[in-house]
Amino acid sequence: MVRMAVDLGGLQMKNPVTVASGTFAAGREYGDFVDVASLGAVTTKGVSLHGWKGNATPRIAETASGMLNSIGLQNAGVAHLKEIDIPWLVDEGATIIVNVSGHSLGEYVSVVEALEEAPVDAYEINISCPNVDAGGMTIGCHVESVESVVSACRAATKRPMIVKLTPNVTDITEIARAAEAAGADALSLINTLLGMAIDAKTRKPLLARIVGGLSGPAVKPIALRMVWECFHSVKIPLLGMGGIASGEDAVEFLLAGATAIAVGTANFMNPTATTEVIEGIARYCEDNGVDDVNELIGALLC
Ligand SMILES: Cc1cc2nc3c(=O)[nH]c(=O)nc-3n(C[C@H](O)[C@H](O)[C@H](O)COP(=O)(O)O)c2cc1C
Repeated sequence: MVRMAVDLGGLQMKNPVTVASGTFAAGREYGDFVDVASLGAVTTKGVSLHGWKGNATPRIAETASGMLNSIGLQNAGVAHLKEIDIPWLVDEGATIIVNVSGHSLGEYVSVVEALEEAPVDAYEINISCPNVDAGGMTIGCHVESVESVVSACRAATKRPMIVKLTPNVTDITEIARAAEAAGADALSLINTLLGMAIDAKTRKPLLARIVGGLSGPAVKPIALRMVWECFHSVKIPLLGMGGIASGEDAVEFLLAGATAIAVGTANFMNPTATTEVIEGIARYCEDNGVDDVNELIGALLC
């Protein structure tokens, strides 16, 4: 039996696999396909204080080896999450990471404060969404705003706090170090890469918002590179994501330095992808004489 448990900055996960926020709703929607208690954790869709309507449609477009989205963090608000979604996840026995969004520093803090009385295991602070005009990536691209939002959230909770980074920067290690210094317990990366798609026949963009975030297999090499760079730049653990669809993909992220990984866009094509990734990691360990999955973290040979 392979030991699969990992410690992600104080969050105890029974295995290294969670889902990427926004690709698994709040878990209930996948309940027919996945035993959510079998996952290392369920990461919920980004939640704001009073809910947001999201962007105009169309806001999803298929591209070669990936998808573009400009959802704009549509959500029903923190009260709905607390009353409906979290109780379901608790009943199922899931480990819960809540992805937190805000248009302002104050909103991030208010969401964390509102969740403090709920049975949440960890927060993932999303300072990297490319699809909102205020908050999101506008915060995650600058050292000063990263420091202020992360330290304000740190002051609001003692729970494990993961900070989610954007790849849309010149040097992700600078942002990673700023988040670590401001009190992050772990970092997650990557959020989506800014992109666009055009229909040559109509001469129109495929997304109403024109630009959106690219995810899926196309972004995996970039995500791996950034996880590897951050592994060598900070001491806190990393939650790696970007195009993971198989156990082998996941192992590559562990070797690059991730302690845990998230399955995202793959859930849309294959709703049982998470289960297959967990099984695939265990099988890789068995086939390669690895007793404990932690042996793989950062074990890249070069
Ligand atoms: C439709 C969609 C919605 C997303 N919503 C969120 C979100 O609410 N919060 C967040 O931090 N990331 C969000 N993301 C980004 C993913 O969590 C993940 O970082 C990204 O898609 C890369 O992983 P993947 O290639 O495996 O999908 C979203 C991605 C997609 C495709």
